[in-house]
Amino acid sequence: MKVFGLCCGRKNGNTEIMMAEVMKGVRSIEPQADVSFVNLQDTHIQACVGCETCMKKKIEGDYEFRCVHGVDKDHFHFIEMQMRAADAIVVSAPAYNLMPPGIMIKFLNKLHASGDYRRITQGVDICKVGACFSIGGTDWTDYIPNIMRMITMELVGVYDGVVDSAHFDFLPAYQMVVLDQKVLDRMYEMGVHVANAVNYKKETGKNAAFMGPEGICGYCHSNLLRVDAEGNVYCPQCNVKASVEVQDGKLKISFTDEALEKSRWAPYGQQLHMDNIAKGHKAAAIGAEKIKESVAGNYKDLIKELRMQVPALIKQ
Ligand SMILES: Cc1cc2nc3c(=O)[nH]c(=O)nc-3n(C[C@H](O)[C@H](O)[C@H](O)COP(=O)(O)O)c2cc1C
Repeated sequence: MKVFGLCCGRKNGNTEIMMAEVMKGVRSIEPQADVSFVNLQDTHIQACVGCETCMKKKIEGDYEFRCVHGVDKDHFHFIEMQMRAADAIVVSAPAYNLMPPGIMIKFLNKLHASGDYRRITQGVDICKVGACFSIGGTDWTDYIPNIMRMITMELVGVYDGVVDSAHFDFLPAYQMVVLDQKVLDRMYEMGVHVANAVNYKKETGKNAAFMGPEGICGYCHSNLLRVDAEGNVYCPQCNVKASVEVQDGKLKISFTDEALEKSRWAPYGQQLHMDNIAKGHKAAAIGAEKIKESVAGNYKDLIKELRMQVPALIKQ
């Protein structure tokens, strides 16, 4: 069994210590398990520049193509290989500005440049097992647990593969998590859950049930809501419409199974997304001449005038 972790907090900091507990939990079930993690702070990940070459290559059926940044000029490919070999992936992050740190998002943005990685993981039968955890220095952390589950889902293939998640507040100082045995125990338990889920999937071909906090949305377990101008309420991660009642002055949110099947992450939503991308590109192709004329006539020179020349850096 290979369990691979991703960290992005301080070296030997809270999240690295918590990841170590997760791996101890894995080893308690599978003493010979291959357990390791990469801290993204040790890596060099080139930012995605949005060239869309990887998307175009995939549409052409070229799954060998890797990002123009290459396999050896950037650590994305190294991590991709770890993920490919893993039975389970554990993703961790401290809150930075209520969200995971930019380095984690920078890494996630490169996922399209991972050849057939998505194709070999995006399905309930073929996904990997995943789990995630996050912490904050205070309780300024509303988005992060939701985003963490979404990142984990992207890395393991589908939400069905995400079997556990946990979040803890009020841990600002370096290494102070060692003072909180409850947090450490919960991390160890996450490792046990992950190892059991890998074994369960190997034995039955099925995904273990989700063991984290249920949240509001039955699909992604988010506890966030979006309200549109007409007062309709949605899970903002899944774009699924909720039914809302007020009971004893409190909101009671529910989602029908039909609505949940239309989650943007379910096969229905994924197809709709692909169709919408294709529709957008078709509209651009039809309007290609007009786009060219308008940009040349109205924007090219103006943008050139506005975009600042940033100074060259002496030392990077
Ligand atoms: C740039 C930056 C932004 C932060 N933003 C938040 C925040 O929005 N909410 C919060 O609760 N903690 C925030 N923190 C605190 C960290 O989440 C906290 O220090 C955590 O313990 C770091 O984990 P680590 O030891 O694994 O690096 C921030 C820290 C940094 C460095």
